[in-house]
This record gives sequence, C-alpha cells and structure tokens, in this order.
Amino acid sequence: MEKIDKDKRNQIFDEIVSSRHSIRAFKEEKPPKELIEGIIEAGMLAPYAAAAVGDKQDFRRFFVFEKDTNSIKTLATRMKNKAAEGIQHFENLIVEKPFMKSKFQPFLKRLNMVVDKGVPGVNTAPYFIIVAELRGIPPAEQESLAHVLENMWLKATALDLGFQLISLTSQMAEDDELMKLLGLPVNKFALNGCAIGYPAITPSATPRPDTLKATRWME
Ligand SMILES: Cc1cc2nc3c(=O)[nH]c(=O)nc-3n(C[C@H](O)[C@H](O)[C@H](O)COP(=O)(O)O)c2cc1C
Repeated sequence: MEKIDKDKRNQIFDEIVSSRHSIRAFKEEKPPKELIEGIIEAGMLAPYAAAAVGDKQDFRRFFVFEKDTNSIKTLATRMKNKAAEGIQHFENLIVEKPFMKSKFQPFLKRLNMVVDKGVPGVNTAPYFIIVAELRGIPPAEQESLAHVLENMWLKATALDLGFQLISLTSQMAEDDELMKLLGLPVNKFALNGCAIGYPAITPSATPRPDTLKATRWME
C-alpha cells in the first residue's frame, strides 16, 4: 500500500470519523461483493481479547446474508420470535414489579414494533452481516464485537456505503435454530450484526455532549 503523508492521514481519519452516521434506509442496488469483503477484512483487523481466546485460531467469524434469500428470511423470523419472547418477559416483569412499568415502556414499544413490522435493517438492505466472536474467560467478547463493528462501520463510511448496527442480533446467540444455520455451537459465541448498502438518505449529524465539558484532565 502506498504510504501517505502524516497530515493527510490524519485529515482522512478525521473526515471518516466525523462522517460516520447510522443509515436506516437503503437503495435496492447491490454494492459489489469486493466492497463487502473489504469491510469484513477491516472487521477482522479489529483487536481481539488475546488472553480470553487463548490459542484458538477460529475466534472470529462473519456470515453474509443477502436480501430476499431463504437464510435472511429465516433470520428475520427468528428475530421476530425473539422480540415476542422479550415482550412476554417484560410483561411478566411488570406484573411482578408494576413500579418499573414506565422504565420498560419505551423498550416494550420497540419490541412490539418489531413483532408487527419486522426488525428494522433485517432484509431491508442488500447485505446483513452477522459477526460471531468466541466467548472466553474473562468475558470480553462483547467489547471485541464492538471494536469489529466499529472498524466495519468506518470502512463502510470510507467506501460511501450506509451502515446500520442491529443490536438485537446479540440476543440471538442462544437461538438453537439460528446457531444451527450458522454452523456454530450454542453458548460458545457472542453475536452482533449490521445492515449494509448504498444509503437512500443523506443523514444529518446527531447531537453529542460538548467534548470540552465532558473532559477532565486529572491532576
Ligand atoms: C450499543 C449500540 C447499539 C445500537 N443499536 C442500534 C440498533 O439496533 N439499530 C439502530 O438503528 N441503531 C443502533 N445503534 C446506533 C445508535 O442509535 C446511533 O449510533 C446513535 O443514535 C447516534 O447516531 P449516529 O450513529 O448517526 O452518530 C446502536 C448504537 C450502539 C452504540
């Protein structure tokens, strides 16, 4: 790879980080497979918890689902079922602890929407990628997955592709049928997922706390 000047690298980095956004609407047009492979490679390059995975070589796996295939339809159904289970769980909790109702309500509303309309981002973009990370001791797989997904997100941004994190995917790691479809043992891997495609909208920046106010230089 051609070496680029230090200032230019820094400028490119800032440009990519500041133009990363959540994209929640995608064009039908399918990005070329090579771009998706580049995004997966960026995910593979993310750090991993070496002490937790030990000498296991196969600690990180990627599963690419394409729109309207049988596999993505199975995933969509399994995730809808998972949301229905979640509703049941929270409704039981509300019966036990009625004072918690207002706290659970927003999430319950989201789960109900998923059951009615499906999981946003699942079969709405040309590609859906599940990332699986081996569980270890100490448990660090969720942190590793966050690094993987962020690398993929930044690479997608560099390629002008839209990216939506679908965090409900993490709830699917104990789903026998999905894990069978992935060919992974239940209880051994943590999951997360994202939708990728050409953005159908131009997103505006989301608000952030003031960095100066949020930062304290310790004496
Ligand atoms: C842990 C985590 C889970 C998230 N889950 C979802 C999700 O399931 N669906 C979604 O559309 N966005 C999800 N997001 C994206 C956030 O909503 C988004 O990053 C935030 O609103 C800021 O917007 P931006 O990404 O455009 O900067 C998640 C982000 C994080 C960090």
